[in-house]
Amino acid sequence: MLDGSACESSLSSKQIFSTAETVDRPALRQTLKPILAISNTFAANRSAPFPSKKVMNFLAKVDSKMLQLERPSYEILEKSKSPAHYASIHYSDNMTVSLFGLLDVEDKLPLHDHPFIHGFIKVIYGKFQVFSFSAKSDVAPEIGGEIETFYEGVQVVTPEDDVIYLAPGYGNIHEIRALEPISIFIDILIPGYGSNTAAHYEMPRPLPPPKTKVTLKRKRKHFWTTNIDYPTLSNL
Ligand SMILES: [Fe+2]
Repeated sequence: MLDGSACESSLSSKQIFSTAETVDRPALRQTLKPILAISNTFAANRSAPFPSKKVMNFLAKVDSKMLQLERPSYEILEKSKSPAHYASIHYSDNMTVSLFGLLDVEDKLPLHDHPFIHGFIKVIYGKFQVFSFSAKSDVAPEIGGEIETFYEGVQVVTPEDDVIYLAPGYGNIHEIRALEPISIFIDILIPGYGSNTAAHYEMPRPLPPPKTKVTLKRKRKHFWTTNIDYPTLSNL
């Protein structure tokens, strides 16, 4: 997951989504509402335990039908000339809900962090690899600086798999690669990045064995997404 702020071009919903533009999605709205309530409660008391299981259970219900999202064709999506595509579903102070789509096999959301964020991923179409690293500190070093992490390993996920949860201090730095063309996932960030931006890191090569320590080096952001005008739910 990344903030979708670095968008250099856009595709309209008419180009991508054949059904969603004018249709409300009451089932999606009803599913996101309790997650927003959890987000707002958490924002009021950040020292309370975070109810990650509840969010995972709600998000597990979300699929392509609930999103009214047909799988875009390769031919349409490649017109953007961008490997990664982003659409905002909902944005408010305490929660960000987005769609990310990768065009081709090996396209990726490169290694990045989620400072002080609880993040959730549910695959909608296709198949992804998620490489996860845990850093004890959510404070990123300066560009060129290093951070000590623990490589958790890689998961392969499809729409049939459970929601992935990452927490401050656990899996809070990750890279997501597509294993199929037109792979799409929904993510929820609690809270969103706000005024923060994602820090990007060099992917260690070769990868260390899972469950071992590894030092990551921060690098400059060299990545962009194409913004897709999916109809947002401003008010849940
Ligand atoms: Fe991420």
